[in-house]
Amino acid sequence: MDETRATHPIECPAAGGPRGRLALARGTPAPPPPDASPVTLDFLKPVIGPGMAEVDQALRESLASDVALIRQVADYIIGGGGKRLRPALLLLTAGATGYSGREHYLLAAVLEMIHTATLLHDDVVDESSLRRGRATANATFGNATAVLVGDFLHSRAFQLLVGVGRAPVLRIVSDATNVIAEGEVLQLMSSGRANVDESAYLEVIQRKTAKLFEAAARLGAVLGDATPEREDAFARYGMHLGTAFQIMDDVLDYSGDATAIGKNLGDDLAEGKMTLPLIRAIQRGSAEDAATIRHAVEGGGRLTDFRPVVDVLQRTGALAYARDRAAEQGRLARACLDGLAPSPYARNLLDLASFAADRAY
Ligand code: IPE
Ligand code: IPE
Ligand code: MG
Ligand code: MG
Repeated sequence: MDETRATHPIECPAAGGPRGRLALARGTPAPPPPDASPVTLDFLKPVIGPGMAEVDQALRESLASDVALIRQVADYIIGGGGKRLRPALLLLTAGATGYSGREHYLLAAVLEMIHTATLLHDDVVDESSLRRGRATANATFGNATAVLVGDFLHSRAFQLLVGVGRAPVLRIVSDATNVIAEGEVLQLMSSGRANVDESAYLEVIQRKTAKLFEAAARLGAVLGDATPEREDAFARYGMHLGTAFQIMDDVLDYSGDATAIGKNLGDDLAEGKMTLPLIRAIQRGSAEDAATIRHAVEGGGRLTDFRPVVDVLQRTGALAYARDRAAEQGRLARACLDGLAPSPYARNLLDLASFAADRAY
């Protein structure tokens, strides 16, 4: 079905230039000077702090189960914190379109549950051992438990959605989860292969990550009874935001601070995952640099590969390049907010795009 595809053409009137496309176009005209990037997410608190407390309450109430292990693992991963970005995005887009009910708290909790389920599964697939600053659920409780509790969270999310009972909402969320699963499988198919190009990389990250941001932003507009044009512009905003967010995640996997990101560096290389920094380094590095990257990706995650690969990424400017591409996606996201009535929500949406494209955690 066409509407389930993540990669429909994504355009927004890019300020000061031709219409921006999601493809990482070279030669994009010089953008307006970016806003100073917020370093932390503190800017959200005055606007949606109380709303996010409601979301957390809904989340806690939604995890009830008489199976003790489910409760224990769900509390463990959800209690580990996390940035709660998808719920925040839904609250902001609902607020920016004038929504004044209470349904968005539950829907935001549903999105966080779906996100958490994908993390439980992703950490099994990636064999990751650190998440949100603590041992992953798979490391603590085992792979089987992590997978099954992920399934529980997923199906509980849909139980709650049925309770909300709005067909467009159900469609948006079910389409998104389907596309996310496709993205993760698509990525798995190229694991250990170095012949991935930028467009194949983008295809994967739009599906596995940006699609849920798109859904969150669209849901806010649906709740706020926004015009179809505004709904689509918010959806495109979410897609660009999510793309910037994942590019930065892939940069931080080589250059972040493990304490700040709450995850181990090097997981992507260990899994043989071709992300944008590696793709760029193969294109721009010497034959020897390219061989270093290929050897590491195809070699099945030897610990000794990490440092030499980081050296190549730094020397070839590949990390800087990926950061620039994230910044470009951030600008495209902000351009999708053109014409939105000024409000604290709209301001936060602009800042969120800047954060996603230049974050340290
Ligand atoms: C992690 O998402 C998975 C990606 C899409 C990169 P987040 O970085 O939003 O994870 P939490 O919820 O803050 O832990
Ligand atoms: C994002 O990719 C995975 C999901 C969308 C679930 P990563 O594998 O890079 O995410 P992290 O780094 O484990 O959070
Ligand atoms: Mg992972
Ligand atoms: Mg990652």
